[in-house]
Amino acid sequence: MTDLSFTTLRREDPASDARRAEIHANPGFGVHFTDHMVSATWTKDGGWHDGRVVPYGPIQLMPSAAVLHYAQEIFEGMKAYRHEDGSVWTFRPEANAARMARSARRLALPELSEADFIGSLKALLAVDEAWVPPADGSEASLYLRPFMYASESFLGVRPANEVTYSVIASPAGPYFAGGLKPVKLWISQDYARAGAGGTGAAKCGGNYASSLAGQLEGIENGCDQAVFLDSGTHELIEELGGMNLFFLTKDGELVTPELSGSILEGITRSSILELAKDLDLTPVERKVPIQEWKDGVASGDIVEIFACGTAAVITPVGELRWEGGSAPAVGGPEGGEVTRAIRSRLLDIQYGRAEDSRGWLTRL
Ligand code: PLP
Ligand code: COI
Repeated sequence: MTDLSFTTLRREDPASDARRAEIHANPGFGVHFTDHMVSATWTKDGGWHDGRVVPYGPIQLMPSAAVLHYAQEIFEGMKAYRHEDGSVWTFRPEANAARMARSARRLALPELSEADFIGSLKALLAVDEAWVPPADGSEASLYLRPFMYASESFLGVRPANEVTYSVIASPAGPYFAGGLKPVKLWISQDYARAGAGGTGAAKCGGNYASSLAGQLEGIENGCDQAVFLDSGTHELIEELGGMNLFFLTKDGELVTPELSGSILEGITRSSILELAKDLDLTPVERKVPIQEWKDGVASGDIVEIFACGTAAVITPVGELRWEGGSAPAVGGPEGGEVTRAIRSRLLDIQYGRAEDSRGWLTRL
């Protein structure tokens, strides 16, 4: 169902070809933005309306806008990939649309239909296509960030009657500057990311705010990221602040923590569970105690560990540290063989170098 059509107001001073090439040569992650952005408004009485593509720039919000006080906000993360023939594609956008609708229900925000969600990406790409990095064999892409927030000016605590949806886009290189160098993870004893009945399964800003103290503690202890455990027993592995986790056993099982209600259901995670079968691995979703990680790397039962998500793709995980202890890395200095094989398989599909037999790609 489509509620929105998008009118476009082009910016008068778009970036020059030379400036874009300069950004593409060294995009970083999340630091440069394209010339335009999408915006649309929802009101309780009027539904979704006023879809626009406008010049990228500051937004006007009242200081009393509900999102600034009560964090009624959700977002998505996806990428646009340029194929060898110049065409531009995105990966499983229906899954992002469905997840955004689930997040919206949890945060009492209005749902946006799949057609409007995908339509908004196409409307932005129609004017900013040149910002998708060239197909040069590198892992560059255009990161797309749809988001929705309570823009109503009102300090009472209730679901907002006015909501804004927006999409911004940012040329992206690798999320971690170290490339395939394994990331070191920290187990925080004090901080959880999400709890039972909370918002952990939704992609909402508050989850990321709540992950930062644990991440900071990890950095202070020489790690790159924190791994969060379940808030009830502190014994079960959930995920990282922005990625899901996988473990490869010596018997060829590819194990990931089952969806507990407080884990984000990653689209990369679900894709890897499917791709595992192509690589003769057995995908397993189950509870994974943190003790199993500590014991498994010592006994040789766990042979590779990696984290996955749209921004970071697949990143090898190295040493695990906690207050007073550590477990050594497995898989070698550039990630294990299977980690690299799954990573290549996924990237080959996304960049159009391998057949998209599951129909995961949508042309933008
Ligand atoms: N877990 C969290 C908390 C995330 O923020 C992300 C990133 O979006 C993921 C997992 C991976 O999800 P996806 O593969 O859909 O990007
Ligand atoms: C993503 O992988 O798209 C994420 O949203 C993770 C992080 C950048 C928040």
